[in-house]
Amino acid sequence: MGRIQLLPFLLILLLTEQTLTQKGKQKCKEEEHALAIRIKKHQNTPETKFKFYEEGRDEDLCQIQIFQPETLEKCSFNESLPLVVIIHGWSVDGMLESWIWKMAAAFKLHKSQFNVVIADWLTFAHVHYPIAVQNTRVIGLEIAEFLEWLESSIQFPRSNVHLIGYSLGAHVSGFAGSYISGSNKIGRITGLDPAGPLFEGMSSTDRLSPDDANFVDAIHTFTQQHMGLSVGINQPVAHYDFYPNGGHFQPGCHIKNLIANIGFHGIKETVKCAHERSVHLFIDSLLNDDKQSMAYWCKDINTFDKGVCLSCRKNRCNTLGYNIKKKRLKRARKLFLKTRSHMPYKVYHYQFKIHFIHQTKDIQLDPTFTLTLIGTKEDVENVLFTPDDGIKGNKTYSFLITLDTDIGELMMIKFKWEGIDVWANIWDTVQTIMPWTSEADRPGLLLNTIRVKAGETQEQMTFCSENVDNIKLLPAQEKTYVRCRNNAKKQARKARTS
Ligand SMILES: *[C@@H]1O[C@H](CO)[C@@H](O)[C@H](O)[C@H]1NC(C)=O
Ligand SMILES: *[C@@H]1O[C@H](CO)[C@@H](O)[C@H](O)[C@H]1NC(C)=O
Repeated sequence: MGRIQLLPFLLILLLTEQTLTQKGKQKCKEEEHALAIRIKKHQNTPETKFKFYEEGRDEDLCQIQIFQPETLEKCSFNESLPLVVIIHGWSVDGMLESWIWKMAAAFKLHKSQFNVVIADWLTFAHVHYPIAVQNTRVIGLEIAEFLEWLESSIQFPRSNVHLIGYSLGAHVSGFAGSYISGSNKIGRITGLDPAGPLFEGMSSTDRLSPDDANFVDAIHTFTQQHMGLSVGINQPVAHYDFYPNGGHFQPGCHIKNLIANIGFHGIKETVKCAHERSVHLFIDSLLNDDKQSMAYWCKDINTFDKGVCLSCRKNRCNTLGYNIKKKRLKRARKLFLKTRSHMPYKVYHYQFKIHFIHQTKDIQLDPTFTLTLIGTKEDVENVLFTPDDGIKGNKTYSFLITLDTDIGELMMIKFKWEGIDVWANIWDTVQTIMPWTSEADRPGLLLNTIRVKAGETQEQMTFCSENVDNIKLLPAQEKTYVRCRNNAKKQARKARTS
């Protein structure tokens, strides 16, 4: 068992200080709901503080008090703008985490305007994890009541509300959505790495689910399973569930960082890095309008890594984060994408399809290839491709390549078989002894065409060997592939007519 796999498990043990059981599973919704109401009845004032965010202000925020409409005016709540409610998760230190301010500020920097409210439920979140889990229902109820009050007092429609909840906050949002009275739903809920422990495998009424709002999206960034537990929930809980980099671990959050910060602090930081990545991906979508990350419908990350899922037909792809296309489908969709380790997180996805003809079919080759991609805007060198189980016989290989930069339209590919050509001298000798043989008789790999599909542009291209008479690839050689002629003709015609 690798150390990294132990992390979520250790964390949960350390944090809850008790063994988790599945007893919560038997509790039905009514019972939990009744409990939430009972807890609430004991309180004179709501537990949640609705803090109205103003630019550049990180403390002493104006507080909107339920049933006190004058506080709306005092806080300069603008009825004609949408309302975004940011809801934090379970709290270790009883303080609002720094991402909250970054998220609030990002909404204020956006070209659209919003009322931004931070739902501070720290007093109920800074407790043992299983207690905080129970409290999510109470807070959900309070948020539902807050929205009902906004509707009755100033006719502010719930459809104009977007709840954004991180970790436990995602389920708080879900409960707010299911407890709100009447048949109309809240506009949108975004769950950012919704919490897993005590929610995974629960029925849809006991966690965030697509029924909780007109539109629900979720970003899963730390769902590494261990003994059935993970920090973030693994199962789909939304209309669109995004799994960046497969949803298990995130680039830049790996074991190296753990070794650098050994001990509890290190574990905490490593878990936080991947868990909180969901938040920063969302912030990225607000801040970098021209760098929107595209994600694609796929069965799982292994299939995605083969590059076969880059289709956008019939809503098979969608934009991660704030600018998602809010097209509701009959069935939930799991969307996959790769990202960088830092903001802007966007990468460009390509499927490469290569058919090799192996001339000496009985010998297995384990080659490594490097590609140089030449685009209209930029070039990228040293893109590695190592076929997983080597090359034996004739086979088509499909694989995913991601690029950090926008190279524009792909124009040319240089394909190199890395390593030294151990046979080169031997072949020279053969030719000396048997002069009737030629270099052309020497077995190698034939590579006729390279097919490429660009996920971001949906463009499909075919590349042919620059020298059509010589399509043989040998070690230590580089071959150039250009757009195939028919393509080139079509392109030219298109250019002339447009
Ligand atoms: C509320 O927002 C609208 C739309 O942006 C704007 O026209 C209006 O001036 C705002 N009202 C106040 C009081 O700021
Ligand atoms: C691969 O294809 C070539 C040419 O089409 C053919 O001669 C050869 O027998 C094939 N090898 C295998 C293992 O199918």
